[in-house]
Amino acid sequence: MPKKIAIYPGSFDPITYGHIDIIKRASMLFDEVVVAVARNLGKTPLFSEAERVAMIREAIRELPTVSVDSFQGLLVDYARSMGAQAVIRGLRAVSDFEYELQMALVNRKLDEHMITVFLMPHEKYSYLNSSIVKELVRFNGDVSSFVPPHVEENLLQKMRKP
Ligand code: COA
Repeated sequence: MPKKIAIYPGSFDPITYGHIDIIKRASMLFDEVVVAVARNLGKTPLFSEAERVAMIREAIRELPTVSVDSFQGLLVDYARSMGAQAVIRGLRAVSDFEYELQMALVNRKLDEHMITVFLMPHEKYSYLNSSIVKELVRFNGDVSSFVPPHVEENLLQKMRKP
């Protein structure tokens, strides 16, 4: 039987415990999970692609079936090129649903075989996103319960830079 491979795409600027929670859940369902950093987003990231990939790599060190990569262009094209059958997305709250549904339907229109799987992170992460983490660090807030120590360290270094 072919391996069941899932892509978990996003901007991961930076990766948080909310993302890691989704990655762990996905790794229980699929033989392989590829965390894929999207290159050409409308967003201007704080961290370079290489920095985001490095932070994810450290965060998934103990998950042998999870790897990290980056991609540009259409997600479905990338997913197909990786031999993936599914795309993972996290649903934190009802407010995520409309955007996620639209994306899932567009992706299905582009490739009817690509299945989007929605997973819910632990409710303690349901209000979390990367912008909030960056905002907290900017104003000296404590983010230790939202991101791993190495990500916090990177955030502090970035924010301290003139
Ligand atoms: N825990 C914490 N935060 C989470 C989270 C979770 N489980 N899941 C999502 N988030 C946050 C992210 O941190 C991000 O926060 P930010 O806006 O403050 O940066 C926000 O929710 C958005 O999530 P993200 O996963 O980064 O989605 P995105 O909208 O930035 O990226 C892509 C979505 C990359 C999957 C999408 O743009 C894409 O597929 N691009 C490729 C082009 C393409 O194929 N387009 C057609 C598809 S419609």
